[in-house]
Amino acid sequence: NTDPASYICAAIRSVPDWPKPGVTFRDITPVLQNPRSFRVLIDLFVYRYIGQRLDLVAGVDARGFILGSVLAYELNLGFVPVRKKGKLPFRTVAEEYTLEYGNAAVEMHTDAVRPGQRVLLIDDLIATGGTMLAAAKLLQRLGANVVEAAAIIELPELGGAQAVKATGLPLYTVCRFN
Ligand code: PRP
Ligand code: HPA
Repeated sequence: NTDPASYICAAIRSVPDWPKPGVTFRDITPVLQNPRSFRVLIDLFVYRYIGQRLDLVAGVDARGFILGSVLAYELNLGFVPVRKKGKLPFRTVAEEYTLEYGNAAVEMHTDAVRPGQRVLLIDDLIATGGTMLAAAKLLQRLGANVVEAAAIIELPELGGAQAVKATGLPLYTVCRFN
């Protein structure tokens, strides 16, 4: 299997029992470290989105920044960060989501998008979908038209991809791991 997606999925490192026993962590750092896989990965997203009517790429803190900023640059779009709470200096809006233990929140600047702007939302991985759904809600509250959500990896057993699609938001992922 030497198609680009299979090449990327094969380059992801699976780390058993991290961050805790029984969890297999899907680690994208080898994909980024190797110049060929890094380029193929970004080019997969460029191939999908070039020529689409988009205004901005929004990347999710922190690994979504790595992909989102390069992709925005390649597509000649602006980049806006969806940050973990407490990091942005100007006026913000926040959206809470639930984690395994307790709550977390993502924030954006209130002027990060103008109403009606067409936004591509990107992160590295979708597990329960809580992060991606919160980010999409935040963008929508600011009036954005979230055209699609994208990630390198989905973990179908955790149901996040289904949950995102159930809201009517199209989702594109490159690899699926159980
Ligand atoms: C990871 C990952 C996604 C999120 C996916 O980020 O990068 O953003 O979890 O999980 P979910 O679908 O269950 O919400 P993490 O919160 O570990 O932050 P990091 O990027 O700063 O490491
Ligand atoms: N890899 C990276 N990030 C994650 C994972 C994973 O397997 N699960 C939840 N967030």
